[in-house]
Amino acid sequence: MSEVTLTINDREVTAEAAMSVLEAARQAGIPIPTLCHHDRLEAYGGCRLCIVEVESRGKINHVVSCTYPVEQGLAVRTRTETVDRIRRVLVEELMAHAPDSPELKALAEEYGADRNRFGKEPIFCVMCGLCVRYCAEIKGEHAVGFIENGPRREISFIPERAAEVCWDCQECFTVCPTSYAQAAYLLAKGLAFPDGGRS
Ligand code: FES
Repeated sequence: MSEVTLTINDREVTAEAAMSVLEAARQAGIPIPTLCHHDRLEAYGGCRLCIVEVESRGKINHVVSCTYPVEQGLAVRTRTETVDRIRRVLVEELMAHAPDSPELKALAEEYGADRNRFGKEPIFCVMCGLCVRYCAEIKGEHAVGFIENGPRREISFIPERAAEVCWDCQECFTVCPTSYAQAAYLLAKGLAFPDGGRS
């Protein structure tokens, strides 16, 4: 397996050529915040919290580290003024939707985010897609998915499918950063079995 050498925060790091910058950083013990990443799932690139600065052949860019591949000689900086500012705004936007998420609260603390910068529109979901992807990629089921588009986009359990496969699983609850998956499931359960059913 071929390897490349890059620097992360001025530290020389060796990584497998197929790794993403996020994987290389984590292997080296260098933290990068993530919301939509899961080690067992395909990289998604949805939340953009893992943004970092990269420099290659004299060019500086800001990229999503969970999908950006390592390369020989790449210079990565995980905390710069610009990177921190972008993360701060992202957290502020997400907190308008999920103000009670423990993960977001911790990130707000770390990046000095103003939790009230944007008007609250609580939908309690940050659209990380972890539940949808976990169900499809790990469980091989499609009991939960995205519905609608644009601002109306949301995740929803398919009541009939959920009734068949979710009772004994519910693993997606543990990957959800806001507890919305559990709430959406209970809603689907209520729709599928208004008179109760298995719990
Ligand atoms: S963790 Fe990279 S975009 Fe969400």
